[in-house]
Amino acid sequence: MSSQAEPKVLISQQEIAARIIQLSSEITSAYRDKNPLLIGILKGSFVFMADLVRVLDFPLEVDFIGLSSYGAGKESSGKVRVRRSPGSEVRGRHVLVVEDIVDSGLTLAFLKDYLLEKKPASLKLCALTDKPERHRVPVNIDYLGFTVPNKFLVGYGLDWNEKYRNLPDICVLDA
Ligand code: IMP
Ligand code: MG
Repeated sequence: MSSQAEPKVLISQQEIAARIIQLSSEITSAYRDKNPLLIGILKGSFVFMADLVRVLDFPLEVDFIGLSSYGAGKESSGKVRVRRSPGSEVRGRHVLVVEDIVDSGLTLAFLKDYLLEKKPASLKLCALTDKPERHRVPVNIDYLGFTVPNKFLVGYGLDWNEKYRNLPDICVLDA
């Protein structure tokens, strides 16, 4: 792709902020006394994680895992690799995975197995966006921000070839 249309806003930063406040009250009820370990999937979740943890007013810890399933395109290769493992001890912890977008679900299916092997006390998933039409394996999202259409999204951490992560809104590329 050589020329690229301007990304169009799908979900504004104000809508994202309002939804994160709602999610934070659900997450607070479930985790306020559990000192959870939030594990963000790099790189896409870094913006969501930063906004989410700042509205969670109780003790928690943050870590990240680097996974890759995508090459330099818009389709999942279906193969997931761990590029950076979390430094934190997962055993016995209440783990909440923080993800930017669920597409095929293959990344999460892999991560679930990977983390369950480490024997957490509990394992749940918080995803900012979900494209249910694209699922290729069953996915159970415990805390979901937005269901989104089957379009390629950028901004608010999401990239296309490493570009657009810094857009403040969630936008559609090639709208
Ligand atoms: P899955 O394994 O197919 O569910 O892919 C999940 C990962 O693919 C996400 O964490 C994103 O990094 C990437 N991804 C999926 N859909 C999009 C999109 O619309 N825009 C940007 N990245 C995406
Ligand atoms: Mg990702």
